[in-house]
Amino acid sequence: MKVILINGGPHKDGCTNFALEEISKELNKEGIDTKIMWLGTKPIGGCIGCNSCLKQDNRCFMKEDIVNDFLEEVEDTDGFVFGSPVHFAAASGALTSFLDRAFYGRGKLFSGKICASVVSCRRGGATAAFDQINKYALMSNMYIVGSSYWNQIHGTNKQEAMEDLEGIQTMHNLGKNMAYLLKCIENGKAVGIQKPKYEAPTKTNFIR
Ligand SMILES: Cc1cc2nc3c(=O)[nH]c(=O)nc-3n(C[C@H](O)[C@H](O)[C@H](O)COP(=O)(O)O)c2cc1C
Repeated sequence: MKVILINGGPHKDGCTNFALEEISKELNKEGIDTKIMWLGTKPIGGCIGCNSCLKQDNRCFMKEDIVNDFLEEVEDTDGFVFGSPVHFAAASGALTSFLDRAFYGRGKLFSGKICASVVSCRRGGATAAFDQINKYALMSNMYIVGSSYWNQIHGTNKQEAMEDLEGIQTMHNLGKNMAYLLKCIENGKAVGIQKPKYEAPTKTNFIR
């Protein structure tokens, strides 16, 4: 079993990464492979709604960033953690663009997998960013994993985040919950419990 953890912050070794490492350690203890992917500091363009990804190979036509590399790995990955620093009470611009393009029209690809969101902030706006990130999974038939408190850690840099003992504990419990759920799903498959067969989507709008 494998979990990909996305660091959507500009700091490779900052608060968000520290939180992801703490989750990762718990998952590894339970025999689950992990990979932290950092989005980096180069621009990640937002979705331009061209729909070419829906027509062709399920990949984004913008090939110069990490989105398509990530999409290559989704099928073989069982769980995801999307981490972001809080920027003006929201997820980072980079993570927002990344998730918009990764999830657009790809509910099927992500369905049945588990997901958690993690945010780091100095002081405020964490739950707004947390809500924002959770929404990608909530409308993609994914199973969202929680912890003993909101999945947030506080600090302006890694050293400060390392002092947030409750935040660290929250990350550890999140890792434990993810490992438990992943094992339940895996063992369920062994006795014939498969993910639900969803109804074919009916798209409606205000006109029809
Ligand atoms: C553009 C920008 C906006 C920010 N907005 C907020 C905010 O709304 N609330 C907050 O508590 N911290 C805010 N911060 C601070 C970061 O969220 C905080 O330092 C975070 O833990 C850094 O995580 P990182 O080391 O992974 O980048 C902001 C930082 C930046 C660069």
